[in-house]
Amino acid sequence: MMWRTSERGRDVAGLAHDLNNVFETIAEAAELLSDEACAAPLAAAISRSVERGRRLVDGFADEHYAPVDLAIVVERAADFVRDLTVLMGRPNVSVLREFEPGLKLKGPDSEWERVFMNLFLNAAQAMPGGGNITVRVSDHGEKAEIRVADEGPGIPPEILDRLFQANFSTRSNQFGLGLHIVDTIVRGQGGEVRAGNRSDRSGAEFRISLPSGAG
Ligand SMILES: Nc1ncnc2c1ncn2[C@@H]1O[C@H](COP(=O)(O)OP(=O)(O)O)[C@@H](O)[C@H]1O
Ligand SMILES: [Mg+2]
Repeated sequence: MMWRTSERGRDVAGLAHDLNNVFETIAEAAELLSDEACAAPLAAAISRSVERGRRLVDGFADEHYAPVDLAIVVERAADFVRDLTVLMGRPNVSVLREFEPGLKLKGPDSEWERVFMNLFLNAAQAMPGGGNITVRVSDHGEKAEIRVADEGPGIPPEILDRLFQANFSTRSNQFGLGLHIVDTIVRGQGGEVRAGNRSDRSGAEFRISLPSGAG
């Protein structure tokens, strides 16, 4: 972990990092709790509080985070999903990195890891027989765009406008928070995420646009 050099900046960023780890643990516990039907409303309330806590911490610590390279974040998220897909008995999911290194992301690296973990996990769940998740980047001067595409069935057009709502899920016993968290984090960094389908073949494609030089 790299911090800016000022003492206070390092303290703030370090504290924010530790708090985000605490939030992570609580969020995971809430996700487990949500499997019990009678505890689901409680789990949802805990998750909302955790999200609020994350927003508060990040708002406070924002200017103290050192920018992180997209390649590093994608690498870590890919490792996480690889471990999970092996556990799920679906080891045939690969993450292909089709972009030049260099794009820097502003904000806490743990949050960006969460963004890509959530997108990769959904993609893996959409490809029970395995397949590729491809990450591409285009930089248009004023805006950078990161695209995450999979080879699953894609997203039915009639649900596209609800995907990012909290608790929207088409899967039984899932929490429906993954994309909501993605949207919250990306917006928090001044960006925007949109969902759609690939034009070259079947599969979903998520596009994250960020103000360029965000790092
Ligand atoms: N890569 C994808 N391919 C197809 N459908 C997807 C994909 N990612 C998300 N979805 C749809 O969006 C819904 C919401 O996703 P998410 O917020 O992560 O919640 P959850 O994964 O808990 O259902 C999913 O239930 C699924 O219907
Ligand atoms: Mg999900």
